[in-house]
Amino acid sequence: MNDQPAPGTGCPVAHGEGVTRLYGPEAATDPHGIYARLREEYGSVAPVVLEGDVPAWLVLGYRENRRVLDNPMQFSRDSRIWRDWREGQVEDTSPLMQMVGWRPDCVSQDGEPHRRLRAAVTDNLHAVAGRGIRRHATHFAHKQIDAFAGEGRADLVTDFAEYLPMLVLTRVFGLAEGEGRTLAESSNLVIKGGADALAHNERIMRILGELAARKREEPGSDFTSGLLEHHAGLDEDEIVNHLRLVLITAHTMTSNLLARALQLMLTETSWMSGLVSGQLNLSAVVEEVMWNAPPLAVLPGRFATADLELGGCPVKEGDLLVLGLAAGNADPEIRPDAGISVQGNQSHLAFSAGPHECPGQNIGQAIIETAVDVLLHRLPGLRLAVPPEELTSTASTWESRLDSLPVEFPV
Ligand code: HEM
Repeated sequence: MNDQPAPGTGCPVAHGEGVTRLYGPEAATDPHGIYARLREEYGSVAPVVLEGDVPAWLVLGYRENRRVLDNPMQFSRDSRIWRDWREGQVEDTSPLMQMVGWRPDCVSQDGEPHRRLRAAVTDNLHAVAGRGIRRHATHFAHKQIDAFAGEGRADLVTDFAEYLPMLVLTRVFGLAEGEGRTLAESSNLVIKGGADALAHNERIMRILGELAARKREEPGSDFTSGLLEHHAGLDEDEIVNHLRLVLITAHTMTSNLLARALQLMLTETSWMSGLVSGQLNLSAVVEEVMWNAPPLAVLPGRFATADLELGGCPVKEGDLLVLGLAAGNADPEIRPDAGISVQGNQSHLAFSAGPHECPGQNIGQAIIETAVDVLLHRLPGLRLAVPPEELTSTASTWESRLDSLPVEFPV
């Protein structure tokens, strides 16, 4: 469509008529540039296309994100009502389906089915949280640091943040530590999308299927056994899909956030000195990152249950909406001066909102706080080994990950 709307006045285009890609080279290097351009052109909601040229609405406004997340009756999480998929425009083998498609897990459902499945997850997360998350994180953080402590330098992405949360999860799930590397690599590739996403998902499902079978025979005091025994009575498929959901979400989100928290501390030295002197605590650092670089930049999937208007856009029943959590956090309507710190304000969108709000946030934060504590304790004098402007990130449609974080320290 050639009719351009006046800046910020909504979008007189139909679903699917946008040509802005939320994937590919520009999205990989400058997702914030794309969000800013779309906001300028369309306002708080914009038409975009996802991998495979699949149309979606990208929600950019903070208030519009909240409206969608808080209203499951209008904006369902159940992708079985997604019109483009129902009409066969999106194949079941599309890499998009790994993030957007329906599964027998709590994140794919609304109402009572959601409550039943979510309770099985949260009851068991609560149980494992009381059984030594910080102890496992301390153990594995030391183990990882031991591998590079004598060198005087390291890459805190590949040598530390990228793998640590998965090592903790192997303990929580009752998996062998050796399976951690495979699972970490496959989880990252599922969320990245692309041709290999499906094969990596299958690899994860196979390992988790074997785990569930093993724990059925020999239960232990782990998350897997807890799910199998939960009174909600999850069937075989539901068990493996919830193990998948928690494993992928917990690992990819926590590793991304840990890397970003370390980046902030090492590039803006006032944060590091505040921490070392005790004037700041780590949760303030994490909160700042939650606002400015939320690990899930774009949340996959809500589906309109009826024709409606959102941010001036004519959303039709069955349309896919993707939620710009990073864009919403930076919305000039709520943050007219983006440079000002948001300390003490927890109303960011990083954990989502409404019925699906992340139930694992305390566990993720406990892993991060422990990891940073151990790191600062073990490596006094830790500093960045390159100028801050040389640090790069690579984004997919959904998240933006720091590529590396080279550091040096006295030995
Ligand atoms: C610390 C970084 C984390 C971030 C930023 C994060 C972010 C999110 C977000 C944005 C959602 C919402 C999905 C939606 O609305 O559709 C979510 C859901 C979820 N998260 Fe997290 N997460 C984190 C850590 C974790 C951890 C450590 C776990 C488990 C140990 C976890 C388990 C889950 C589960 C099970 C759901 C689905 C909840 C539902 O559908 O009711 N997350 N997370």
